[in-house]
Parts: sequence; C-alpha cells; structure tokens
Amino acid sequence: MNQFQAFHQQYLAEFNHYLDEHLRQEIKQPELQAGMLYSVEAGGKRLRPFLLLAALKTCAPQVNPRDYFRVAGAIELLHTYSLIHDDLPEMDNDDYRRGHLTNHKKFTVGRAVLAGDGLLTHAFSWLATTKLTAALQVKLIQILAQAAGPQQMVAGQMTDIVHAGDHLSVAQVEQLDAQKTGALITAAVLMGAYCGQASPQLRQQLQIYAQNFGLAFQIYDDLLDLRGNAKQLGKAVGKDQAAGKNTYPEVLGLKAARAQLTQALAAARAALALLPDSTVLLEDALAYFDLGAVQ
Ligand code: IPE
Ligand code: IPE
Ligand code: MG
Ligand code: MG
Ligand code: MG
Repeated sequence: MNQFQAFHQQYLAEFNHYLDEHLRQEIKQPELQAGMLYSVEAGGKRLRPFLLLAALKTCAPQVNPRDYFRVAGAIELLHTYSLIHDDLPEMDNDDYRRGHLTNHKKFTVGRAVLAGDGLLTHAFSWLATTKLTAALQVKLIQILAQAAGPQQMVAGQMTDIVHAGDHLSVAQVEQLDAQKTGALITAAVLMGAYCGQASPQLRQQLQIYAQNFGLAFQIYDDLLDLRGNAKQLGKAVGKDQAAGKNTYPEVLGLKAARAQLTQALAAARAALALLPDSTVLLEDALAYFDLGAVQ
C-alpha cells in the first residue's frame, strides 16, 4: 500500500461518518434527506476530498485533516450532485452509479433533480460555515463556484451533450475535459493548498499537477468505458461511442489516447518534482491510474 492509499484508508471511515452524520442532522425534509444520502452513501472513491486533504497535508504537514472534513465534504457533495444530474435521462441516461441504481431510477427524475440541487447548494453552505477565517472561506467559495459553475464544469457538461454526435477537434475535447472534469479536481487541490497557507509558487506547481491529474482522469475514464469492467466500476461501460461522445479514444484512437494519459501523468509528476518539500502523498495519488487496466 502506498502512502496516499494508507492516508485514504486511515481517514475514509471517519470522513464518511462525517458526511452521514451532518447530512442527517441538517437536512430535515425526509424525502430530500433520503435522496441526498442515497447517492452520497452509495460509495464512490472520494478521490476529490482526499486530493484536497493530501494537498493540505503537503502544504501544512502539522495540521489535523479532521479539522478540514467540512471543506473536503463540500467537494464531495458537489461532485455527487454532478453525477446525479450527469446520469439523468436527458443527459447520459444511465441506470447504475456507484454499484447501485442511479438516483432517478431509484426515486424518479423530479426527486433526483432536487437531490442534486440540494447537494449543490449545501456544498456552499458547508464552505460558509467552517471555523476558518472569513477571508479563507470566501476564497474557498470563490474557487469552488468558479470551477463548478458556468465558466467550467457546467460549461463542459453543456458542450458534452450539445456536441454529442459532432466531431470536435483534439483541442476542443481537451477544453471540454478540462472544464467538465479537470476544473473540480484542480479546485480540490487548490482549496487544500489555500487551507494549508501555501505560497503562490507552491500553489502554482500544485495547480499544474492538478490540471494534468484532471486531464489524465477524464482520459482514463474514457478508456475505462472501452476497456473497464461494469461490475468493478459500478457503472455501465461501452456507452460513450453509441452516444457519440467526444472522448479521447474517439478523437485520437486508443493508442494515442493512452499516450496522452502517460504524458499527462509525467507532467503531473514533473510539477511535483520541482518542489523542495515532500510531495509523496500527491505523487502516490497518481497510482490511481492503472495503465494495465486500459490496455
Ligand atoms: C466520475 O467520477 C465522473 C467523472 C468525472 C469521470 P469518479 O470516478 O471520481 O466517481 P466516484 O466518485 O468514484 O463515484
Ligand atoms: C462526467 O463525465 C463529468 C461530470 C459529472 C461533471 P462522464 O459522463 O464521462 O462520467 P461517467 O462516465 O458518467 O462517470
Ligand atoms: Mg457525462
Ligand atoms: Mg456520464
Ligand atoms: Mg465517462
């Protein structure tokens, strides 16, 4: 087990407990509580919150990650909303997510839209009610709003569905992926860096790391749609092509898509190598990408 995996394992149960306990306490409307909890507790790798905590630990090794569960939790609530809406019939029309029926299959489309709305809004409520300074809270809210909103994630999701069936250029697909997936991953790392009082130079290197991680993440997700196993992934595979999605393997071919993935991982590693302090947690997080799984 590498250090990121050990870190993840050390705090995962407590982090999940934090999400469960606080959503139960704070969301009083029973159907809404059930809908929000259903998708949050269906599973998920919790990659974004743990990247946030790993970036925090990199910048401020002395801090207790538990003191930042509310910030890390906000990222996970927002990410889970994005998945619920991504799966809707008028979006990707998926029946399984995180090894369970999608939220709309379990509860109806109307209720799934509202569970997503609740998670999205509640993420910002958490960021605005931490014990951090007001200035830091505003910064975190700004980073997340810009990454998840109409300048980035929502814009990427719009391009994704509107241009399904069209042939986008490689540059356009790169932008689509940076928006729909890279932005939230970059926000997670940057939020961790701001919580850890990182210098502007450190933040800049971590941002380059995260942008490349984010690009690698969507290429890998696209490759898993072709090469992965539905049971292992907890979601359907083999759907992107039929839906005419502009994925890396679709526009570049499998081999070149794999090469792009390798290149993004090397760029992420190189960004860390320039830093004077230990970045082993973030380096080890790159082991998430298993090239053998997408051959
Ligand atoms: C899936 O994200 C959506 C994409 C951006 C490709 P994850 O693969 O992180 O999903 P969970 O959170 O583990 O379910
Ligand atoms: C999802 O991308 C991106 C967001 C949810 C913002 P995909 O549509 O490729 O994700 P999966 O494959 O359904 O998890
Ligand atoms: Mg999608
Ligand atoms: Mg999808
Ligand atoms: Mg996908």
